[in-house]
Amino acid sequence: MPSSQVDLFSERARVDPYPIYDELRELGPVVRLTRHDLYALPRYEEVRAALTDWRTFSSARGVFVDPGINAQLEGITLCSDPPDHTTMRAVLGRPLRADRMREITPRIEAEARHIVEELVGRGRFDAATELAEHLPMAVVSELVGLPDRGRDKMLEWAAAIWNVQGPANERFVASTPSVEEFMAFATEEAVPGRLDPQGWAAHLYEAADRGEMPHDKCPVMMLDYVTPSLDTTILAITNLVRLFADNPDQWDLLRVDRSWIPHAINESLRLETPVPQFSRVLTEEHEIGGVVLPAGARVALLYGSANRDHRQYPDPTRFDITRCPSDHLAFGRGEHVCVGMHLARLEMGALLEQLADRVHRFEVVSSRPMINNGLRGLARLEVTVT
Ligand code: HEM
Repeated sequence: MPSSQVDLFSERARVDPYPIYDELRELGPVVRLTRHDLYALPRYEEVRAALTDWRTFSSARGVFVDPGINAQLEGITLCSDPPDHTTMRAVLGRPLRADRMREITPRIEAEARHIVEELVGRGRFDAATELAEHLPMAVVSELVGLPDRGRDKMLEWAAAIWNVQGPANERFVASTPSVEEFMAFATEEAVPGRLDPQGWAAHLYEAADRGEMPHDKCPVMMLDYVTPSLDTTILAITNLVRLFADNPDQWDLLRVDRSWIPHAINESLRLETPVPQFSRVLTEEHEIGGVVLPAGARVALLYGSANRDHRQYPDPTRFDITRCPSDHLAFGRGEHVCVGMHLARLEMGALLEQLADRVHRFEVVSSRPMINNGLRGLARLEVTVT
């Protein structure tokens, strides 16, 4: 089996993982990553096959890298298999269903109009912190319904949880106190009586009262709402602005015909995947591309690499909204496919509509990458607009 000593979590790899992904895809359909005791799947077909075979590729022993964190977060929705997963996901996904999104669409569109009008009026802004953060922060903090201290700290806590999804490197260690604070908040402060009774978090406790799931799952399921809903979408919105700044012909296309918006969202997520990987554990011996992996092996599913596999996407580095790549893996697939994707698409689409009404061209002034063990994208993107 091909092997590689590459560190997918070095600062260089977090900023620009693409040369490494190219190398891994060329090495083979499965590559042993000696530094992290992982087997990586860098190509599209194998990642997709793994995502749709939960019996062999289990999430129940965690989907991260570090054994300690995998043990600590065992049992959250993301880190479970059916039938437990099915029960939790049914409750968790209730307010995130497509039909429920229609109810909050007017509120999201109004927020999008408000922020875009203000920023475009200024002519220059940071697309990451001023544009992209606004909607997820306004919407999620209100809908989850946490006590005020939680709303103020959500972004910091969520970023910390993403950082501990990598190996126990410096970023991981530095984030541990925030993770502990978040866990304590979830169990001690985000509790009935202190939650907004109309919010998603309070509804978890009501579902537990009705016997739909165990009570002890409520605090960790609250984490399922906060952790994956902020930075993911913030990075994705920022990427859209950068990609359209770099590809004005594609922006012209979208401005003329708004039916390209859903395809532009998919193409941006394919090309710049905010969550570059999760992992699974093999429940039995399994053969991939002629290589037999042992039961118990941890297998990294490299979504960011699979989405740039030329076997699936010809000329994969080109941003082409007419490609319509609805089969991309940026939201995962199968049992664990992103339960918040309708919300993410709604937020991204609402902002694109407003920007398309008002912006002819974006120009990038400067940018700074986000360095995080579990996420990839830009922490700052200063742009001017005409
Ligand atoms: C562009 C934004 C987003 C991206 C790229 C993204 C990405 C992903 C990915 C790749 C997975 C699959 C995990 C796996 O394979 O094990 C996932 C699952 C999940 N996402 Fe998202 N996500 C986004 C937005 C959101 C939002 C807005 C929410 C809102 C709450 C959310 C909540 C979740 C939850 C709870 C899961 C776990 C589902 C399960 O295990 O059944 N995500 N997301």
